[in-house]
Amino acid sequence: MSKILLIGGTGFVGTAIARQLTAQGHILRFATRRRDRAKHLITLPTAEVVEANVHDPRVLEQLMRDQDVVISLVGILRGNFMRAHAELPEKIAAAAKAAGVRRIVHISALGAAADAPSAYLRSKAAGEEALKRSELDVTILQPSVIFGQGDSFLTLFSSIQACVPVLPLACPNAQFQPVWVEDVAAAVVHSLAQSESIGQTYALGGPRTYALKELVAYAGAVAGHRAAIIGLPAPLSYLQALAMEIVGGPMTRDNYYSMQKPNVCAQAPSLPFGLAATPLEAVAPGYLRDGRWRAGNDRFREHARR
Ligand SMILES: NC(=O)c1ccc[n+]([C@@H]2O[C@H](COP(=O)([O-])OP(=O)(O)OC[C@H]3O[C@@H](n4cnc5c(N)ncnc54)[C@H](OP(=O)(O)O)[C@@H]3O)[C@@H](O)[C@H]2O)c1
Repeated sequence: MSKILLIGGTGFVGTAIARQLTAQGHILRFATRRRDRAKHLITLPTAEVVEANVHDPRVLEQLMRDQDVVISLVGILRGNFMRAHAELPEKIAAAAKAAGVRRIVHISALGAAADAPSAYLRSKAAGEEALKRSELDVTILQPSVIFGQGDSFLTLFSSIQACVPVLPLACPNAQFQPVWVEDVAAAVVHSLAQSESIGQTYALGGPRTYALKELVAYAGAVAGHRAAIIGLPAPLSYLQALAMEIVGGPMTRDNYYSMQKPNVCAQAPSLPFGLAATPLEAVAPGYLRDGRWRAGNDRFREHARR
Protein backbone atom coordinates (compact mmCIF):
# COMPACT_ATOMS: atom_id res chain seq x y z
CA MET A 1 0.00 0.00 0.00
CA SER A 2 1.43 3.39 -1.04
CA LYS A 3 0.57 7.01 -0.52
CA ILE A 4 0.09 8.45 -3.99
CA LEU A 5 -0.30 12.09 -5.03
CA LEU A 6 -2.18 12.60 -8.31
CA ILE A 7 -1.57 15.94 -10.03
CA GLY A 8 -4.14 16.39 -12.80
CA GLY A 9 -5.93 13.32 -11.48
CA THR A 10 -9.43 14.75 -11.19
CA GLY A 11 -10.30 14.33 -14.89
CA PHE A 12 -11.24 11.50 -17.20
CA VAL A 13 -8.05 9.43 -16.98
CA GLY A 14 -7.25 10.25 -13.34
CA THR A 15 -10.67 9.05 -12.24
CA ALA A 16 -10.13 5.64 -13.87
CA ILE A 17 -6.66 5.39 -12.32
CA ALA A 18 -8.13 6.35 -8.95
CA ARG A 19 -10.72 3.58 -9.12
CA GLN A 20 -8.07 0.92 -9.82
CA LEU A 21 -5.60 2.21 -7.22
CA THR A 22 -8.33 2.48 -4.59
CA ALA A 23 -9.36 -1.12 -5.27
CA GLN A 24 -5.77 -2.09 -4.41
CA GLY A 25 -5.95 -0.21 -1.12
CA HIS A 26 -3.62 2.68 -1.95
CA ILE A 27 -4.13 6.01 -0.21
CA LEU A 28 -4.67 8.81 -2.71
CA ARG A 29 -4.27 12.57 -2.56
CA PHE A 30 -5.60 14.69 -5.42
CA ALA A 31 -4.56 18.24 -6.12
CA THR A 32 -7.17 20.35 -7.90
CA ARG A 33 -7.73 23.98 -8.76
CA ARG A 34 -11.38 23.67 -7.73
CA ARG A 35 -12.46 21.17 -5.12
CA ASP A 36 -16.12 21.34 -6.19
CA ARG A 37 -15.15 19.83 -9.54
CA ALA A 38 -13.70 16.78 -7.81
CA LYS A 39 -16.83 15.78 -5.87
CA HIS A 40 -16.84 12.38 -7.53
CA LEU A 41 -13.48 11.60 -5.90
CA ILE A 42 -14.27 12.82 -2.41
CA THR A 43 -16.47 9.75 -1.89
CA LEU A 44 -13.62 7.31 -2.57
CA PRO A 45 -12.79 5.63 0.75
CA THR A 46 -9.05 6.37 0.81
CA ALA A 47 -8.92 9.66 -1.09
CA GLU A 48 -8.15 13.20 0.00
CA VAL A 49 -8.87 16.12 -2.36
CA VAL A 50 -6.81 19.25 -1.80
CA GLU A 51 -7.43 22.59 -3.50
CA ALA A 52 -3.98 23.84 -4.44
CA ASN A 53 -2.01 25.81 -6.98
CA VAL A 54 0.32 23.11 -8.28
CA HIS A 55 2.31 25.67 -10.27
CA ASP A 56 3.67 27.08 -6.99
CA PRO A 57 6.85 25.11 -6.15
CA ARG A 58 6.35 25.47 -2.39
CA VAL A 59 2.77 24.20 -2.60
CA LEU A 60 3.93 21.27 -4.70
CA GLU A 61 6.59 20.33 -2.18
CA GLN A 62 4.06 20.50 0.65
CA LEU A 63 1.65 18.28 -1.27
CA MET A 64 4.42 15.70 -1.75
CA ARG A 65 5.57 15.57 1.88
CA ASP A 66 4.91 12.05 3.25
CA GLN A 67 3.93 10.69 -0.20
CA ASP A 68 5.57 7.63 -1.82
CA VAL A 69 4.61 8.22 -5.45
CA VAL A 70 3.53 11.05 -7.73
CA ILE A 71 1.32 10.47 -10.78
CA SER A 72 1.57 13.45 -13.10
CA LEU A 73 -1.37 13.90 -15.46
CA VAL A 74 -2.00 17.56 -16.13
CA GLY A 75 -2.97 18.04 -19.77
CA ILE A 76 -4.68 20.75 -21.78
CA LEU A 77 -5.73 21.00 -25.43
CA ARG A 78 -5.60 24.79 -25.64
CA GLY A 79 -3.84 27.48 -23.64
CA ASN A 80 -0.29 27.71 -22.36
CA PHE A 81 1.10 24.29 -23.32
CA MET A 82 4.64 24.96 -22.13
CA ARG A 83 3.43 25.99 -18.67
CA ALA A 84 1.16 22.94 -18.23
CA HIS A 85 3.17 20.24 -20.03
CA ALA A 86 6.83 21.28 -19.68
CA GLU A 87 7.31 23.76 -16.82
CA LEU A 88 4.99 21.86 -14.48
CA PRO A 89 6.75 18.47 -14.87
CA GLU A 90 10.04 20.28 -14.24
CA LYS A 91 8.59 21.78 -11.04
CA ILE A 92 7.18 18.36 -10.10
CA ALA A 93 10.64 16.83 -10.42
CA ALA A 94 12.26 19.57 -8.32
CA ALA A 95 9.57 19.34 -5.62
CA ALA A 96 9.81 15.55 -5.57
CA LYS A 97 13.54 15.77 -4.94
CA ALA A 98 13.02 18.32 -2.18
CA ALA A 99 10.26 16.23 -0.57
CA GLY A 100 12.17 12.95 -0.90
CA VAL A 101 9.75 11.30 -3.35
CA ARG A 102 11.60 9.21 -5.94
CA ARG A 103 8.85 7.51 -7.93
CA ILE A 104 6.97 9.35 -10.66
CA VAL A 105 4.59 8.01 -13.30
CA HIS A 106 3.95 10.62 -15.97
CA ILE A 107 1.18 10.60 -18.58
CA SER A 108 2.43 12.19 -21.78
CA ALA A 109 0.93 11.62 -25.24
CA LEU A 110 1.66 9.38 -28.21
CA GLY A 111 3.62 11.32 -30.81
CA ALA A 112 5.34 13.61 -28.29
CA ALA A 113 8.57 14.72 -29.96
CA ALA A 114 10.75 17.81 -30.12
CA ASP A 115 10.05 18.05 -33.86
CA ALA A 116 6.33 17.13 -33.70
CA PRO A 117 3.96 19.20 -35.84
CA SER A 118 1.96 20.70 -32.94
CA ALA A 119 2.85 22.82 -29.93
CA TYR A 120 0.85 20.34 -27.79
CA LEU A 121 3.10 17.43 -28.76
CA ARG A 122 6.32 19.47 -28.60
CA SER A 123 5.45 20.67 -25.08
CA LYS A 124 4.68 17.09 -24.03
CA ALA A 125 8.15 16.10 -25.28
CA ALA A 126 9.73 18.94 -23.28
CA GLY A 127 7.94 17.67 -20.15
CA GLU A 128 9.23 14.15 -20.73
CA GLU A 129 12.77 15.46 -21.13
CA ALA A 130 12.53 17.45 -17.88
CA LEU A 131 11.52 14.32 -15.99
CA LYS A 132 14.18 12.15 -17.65
CA ARG A 133 16.85 14.72 -16.69
CA SER A 134 15.72 14.59 -13.05
CA GLU A 135 17.29 11.14 -12.46
CA LEU A 136 14.26 10.21 -10.37
CA ASP A 137 12.53 6.83 -10.85
CA VAL A 138 10.33 7.90 -13.74
CA THR A 139 8.00 5.90 -16.00
CA ILE A 140 6.44 7.70 -18.95
CA LEU A 141 3.22 6.54 -20.63
CA GLN A 142 2.23 7.86 -24.06
CA PRO A 143 -1.40 7.05 -24.89
CA SER A 144 -3.07 7.52 -28.25
CA VAL A 145 -6.56 8.99 -28.02
CA ILE A 146 -8.43 7.49 -25.05
CA PHE A 147 -12.02 6.26 -25.09
CA GLY A 148 -14.38 5.26 -22.29
CA GLN A 149 -17.40 6.50 -20.36
CA GLY A 150 -17.11 10.30 -20.17
CA ASP A 151 -14.51 10.64 -22.94
CA SER A 152 -14.28 13.83 -24.99
CA PHE A 153 -13.83 12.04 -28.29
CA LEU A 154 -16.40 9.43 -29.35
CA THR A 155 -18.89 11.12 -27.04
CA LEU A 156 -18.34 14.44 -28.78
CA PHE A 157 -18.82 12.98 -32.25
CA SER A 158 -21.89 11.08 -31.13
CA SER A 159 -23.48 14.15 -29.53
CA ILE A 160 -22.77 16.38 -32.56
CA GLN A 161 -24.51 13.88 -34.82
CA ALA A 162 -27.59 13.99 -32.61
CA CYS A 163 -27.92 17.68 -33.57
CA VAL A 164 -26.93 17.87 -37.26
CA PRO A 165 -27.90 15.85 -40.37
CA VAL A 166 -24.58 16.63 -42.11
CA LEU A 167 -21.16 16.76 -40.46
CA PRO A 168 -18.27 18.44 -42.30
CA LEU A 169 -15.25 16.66 -40.82
CA ALA A 170 -11.72 18.09 -40.69
CA CYS A 171 -8.79 15.69 -41.22
CA PRO A 172 -11.04 12.71 -42.07
CA ASN A 173 -8.08 10.44 -42.79
CA ALA A 174 -6.14 11.22 -39.59
CA GLN A 175 -5.01 7.94 -38.04
CA PHE A 176 -5.62 6.95 -34.41
CA GLN A 177 -5.20 3.83 -32.30
CA PRO A 178 -7.78 4.45 -29.56
CA VAL A 179 -7.01 2.89 -26.19
CA TRP A 180 -9.54 2.18 -23.41
CA VAL A 181 -9.24 4.36 -20.34
CA GLU A 182 -9.25 1.28 -18.08
CA ASP A 183 -6.30 -0.14 -20.05
CA VAL A 184 -4.41 3.13 -19.54
CA ALA A 185 -5.20 2.95 -15.81
CA ALA A 186 -4.05 -0.68 -15.73
CA ALA A 187 -0.75 0.37 -17.35
CA VAL A 188 -0.26 2.91 -14.56
CA VAL A 189 -1.01 0.31 -11.88
CA HIS A 190 1.42 -2.19 -13.48
CA SER A 191 4.11 0.50 -13.83
CA LEU A 192 3.95 1.08 -10.09
CA ALA A 193 4.11 -2.64 -9.32
CA GLN A 194 7.02 -3.43 -11.66
CA SER A 195 10.41 -1.87 -10.97
CA GLU A 196 11.58 -2.78 -14.53
CA SER A 197 9.33 0.05 -15.73
CA ILE A 198 11.61 2.64 -14.12
CA GLY A 199 13.38 4.64 -16.82
CA GLN A 200 11.04 3.30 -19.51
CA THR A 201 8.68 5.07 -21.92
CA TYR A 202 5.69 3.06 -23.12
CA ALA A 203 3.36 3.84 -26.01
CA LEU A 204 -0.25 2.86 -25.25
CA GLY A 205 -2.70 2.02 -28.01
CA GLY A 206 -5.70 -0.14 -28.70
CA PRO A 207 -5.79 -3.27 -30.86
CA ARG A 208 -6.64 -1.43 -34.13
CA THR A 209 -5.88 1.68 -36.10
CA TYR A 210 -8.78 3.74 -37.50
CA ALA A 211 -9.19 6.76 -39.74
CA LEU A 212 -11.00 9.58 -37.96
CA LYS A 213 -13.96 9.35 -40.35
CA GLU A 214 -14.43 5.66 -39.43
CA LEU A 215 -14.53 6.52 -35.73
CA VAL A 216 -17.00 9.35 -36.28
CA ALA A 217 -19.26 7.14 -38.40
CA TYR A 218 -19.04 4.38 -35.81
CA ALA A 219 -19.92 6.72 -32.92
CA GLY A 220 -22.98 8.02 -34.79
CA ALA A 221 -24.14 4.57 -35.84
CA VAL A 222 -23.82 3.10 -32.34
CA ALA A 223 -25.63 6.04 -30.74
CA GLY A 224 -28.43 5.71 -33.30
CA HIS A 225 -28.17 9.12 -34.91
CA ARG A 226 -25.87 8.93 -37.84
CA ALA A 227 -25.16 12.10 -39.85
CA ALA A 228 -23.80 12.25 -43.40
CA ILE A 229 -20.07 12.78 -42.95
CA ILE A 230 -18.33 15.01 -45.47
CA GLY A 231 -14.56 14.77 -45.24
CA LEU A 232 -12.93 18.16 -45.74
CA PRO A 233 -9.74 18.59 -47.78
CA ALA A 234 -6.69 20.05 -46.00
CA PRO A 235 -7.31 23.79 -46.64
CA LEU A 236 -10.94 23.58 -45.47
CA SER A 237 -9.89 21.43 -42.49
CA TYR A 238 -7.48 24.18 -41.48
CA LEU A 239 -10.16 26.86 -41.87
CA GLN A 240 -12.64 24.85 -39.80
CA ALA A 241 -10.01 24.47 -37.06
CA LEU A 242 -9.31 28.21 -37.17
CA ALA A 243 -13.03 29.07 -36.99
CA MET A 244 -13.55 26.71 -34.04
CA GLU A 245 -10.49 28.10 -32.32
CA ILE A 246 -11.96 31.61 -32.59
CA VAL A 247 -15.41 30.66 -31.30
CA GLY A 248 -14.08 28.31 -28.59
CA GLY A 249 -15.29 25.14 -30.35
CA PRO A 250 -13.86 21.66 -29.81
CA MET A 251 -10.95 22.04 -32.26
CA THR A 252 -7.98 24.36 -32.73
CA ARG A 253 -5.28 24.83 -35.34
CA ASP A 254 -2.92 23.06 -32.97
CA ASN A 255 -5.21 19.97 -32.98
CA TYR A 256 -5.14 20.20 -36.77
CA TYR A 257 -1.33 20.19 -36.69
CA SER A 258 -1.32 17.19 -34.30
CA MET A 259 -3.45 15.23 -36.77
CA GLN A 260 -0.93 15.68 -39.59
CA LYS A 261 0.98 12.65 -38.27
CA PRO A 262 -0.55 9.21 -37.59
CA ASN A 263 -1.19 8.82 -33.86
CA VAL A 264 -0.36 5.11 -33.79
CA CYS A 265 2.08 2.89 -31.89
CA ALA A 266 5.31 2.18 -33.74
CA GLN A 267 5.52 -1.37 -32.41
CA ALA A 268 3.32 -4.25 -31.33
CA PRO A 269 2.10 -5.13 -28.79
CA SER A 270 0.28 -1.87 -28.23
CA LEU A 271 0.28 -2.25 -24.44
CA PRO A 272 3.14 -3.19 -22.07
CA PHE A 273 3.16 -5.65 -19.13
CA GLY A 274 1.35 -8.35 -21.13
CA LEU A 275 -1.90 -6.36 -20.97
CA ALA A 276 -4.42 -7.23 -23.68
CA ALA A 277 -5.78 -4.14 -25.44
CA THR A 278 -9.57 -3.92 -25.23
CA PRO A 279 -11.38 -3.40 -28.55
CA LEU A 280 -13.34 -0.17 -28.93
CA GLU A 281 -16.34 -2.16 -30.15
CA ALA A 282 -16.46 -4.09 -26.87
CA VAL A 283 -16.87 -0.97 -24.76
CA ALA A 284 -18.16 2.04 -26.73
CA PRO A 285 -21.74 0.77 -27.30
CA GLY A 286 -22.14 0.57 -23.53
CA TYR A 287 -21.83 4.31 -23.09
CA LEU A 288 -22.79 5.72 -26.51
CA ARG A 289 -26.12 3.93 -26.81
CA ASP A 290 -29.36 5.06 -25.20
CA GLY A 291 -28.24 8.65 -24.77
CA ARG A 292 -25.66 7.71 -22.17
CA TRP A 293 -23.28 10.00 -24.08
CA ARG A 294 -25.08 12.85 -22.31
CA ALA A 295 -22.96 12.13 -19.24
CA GLY A 296 -19.95 13.19 -21.30
CA ASN A 297 -21.67 16.43 -22.24
CA ASP A 298 -21.42 17.57 -18.63
CA ARG A 299 -17.68 17.70 -19.13
CA PHE A 300 -18.07 20.06 -22.10
CA ARG A 301 -20.40 22.32 -20.13
CA GLU A 302 -17.90 22.34 -17.32
CA HIS A 303 -15.13 23.18 -19.77
CA ALA A 304 -17.20 26.02 -21.17
CA ARG A 305 -18.02 27.13 -17.59
CA ARG A 306 -21.73 26.63 -18.25
N1 LIG B 1 -7.97 11.92 -23.05
C1 LIG B 1 -7.20 11.56 -24.07
O1 LIG B 1 -7.67 11.13 -25.13
C2 LIG B 1 -5.70 11.65 -23.93
C3 LIG B 1 -4.88 11.16 -24.96
C4 LIG B 1 -3.49 11.23 -24.82
C5 LIG B 1 -2.94 11.79 -23.67
N2 LIG B 1 -3.75 12.27 -22.70
C6 LIG B 1 -3.14 12.87 -21.51
O2 LIG B 1 -3.64 12.24 -20.35
C7 LIG B 1 -3.67 13.19 -19.28
C8 LIG B 1 -5.04 13.19 -18.64
O3 LIG B 1 -5.99 13.54 -19.63
P1 LIG B 1 -7.56 13.62 -19.29
O4 LIG B 1 -8.28 13.24 -20.52
O5 LIG B 1 -7.86 12.92 -18.01
O6 LIG B 1 -7.73 15.20 -19.09
P2 LIG B 1 -8.89 15.96 -18.32
O7 LIG B 1 -10.06 15.09 -18.06
O8 LIG B 1 -9.11 17.23 -19.07
O9 LIG B 1 -8.22 16.32 -16.92
C9 LIG B 1 -7.17 17.24 -16.89
C10 LIG B 1 -6.60 17.35 -15.49
O10 LIG B 1 -5.58 18.34 -15.53
C11 LIG B 1 -5.84 19.35 -14.57
N3 LIG B 1 -5.53 20.64 -15.19
C12 LIG B 1 -5.97 21.11 -16.38
N4 LIG B 1 -5.42 22.29 -16.64
C13 LIG B 1 -4.61 22.59 -15.60
C14 LIG B 1 -3.76 23.67 -15.29
N5 LIG B 1 -3.65 24.71 -16.11
N6 LIG B 1 -3.09 23.63 -14.13
C15 LIG B 1 -3.20 22.59 -13.29
N7 LIG B 1 -3.99 21.53 -13.52
C16 LIG B 1 -4.68 21.53 -14.67
C17 LIG B 1 -7.31 19.23 -14.20
O11 LIG B 1 -7.40 19.52 -12.81
P3 LIG B 1 -8.50 20.44 -12.08
O12 LIG B 1 -9.46 20.94 -13.13
O13 LIG B 1 -9.14 19.55 -11.08
O14 LIG B 1 -7.69 21.50 -11.45
C18 LIG B 1 -7.59 17.76 -14.43
O15 LIG B 1 -7.30 17.02 -13.28
C19 LIG B 1 -3.27 14.53 -19.88
O16 LIG B 1 -1.92 14.76 -19.62
C20 LIG B 1 -3.50 14.33 -21.36
O17 LIG B 1 -2.66 15.16 -22.14
C21 LIG B 1 -5.12 12.21 -22.78
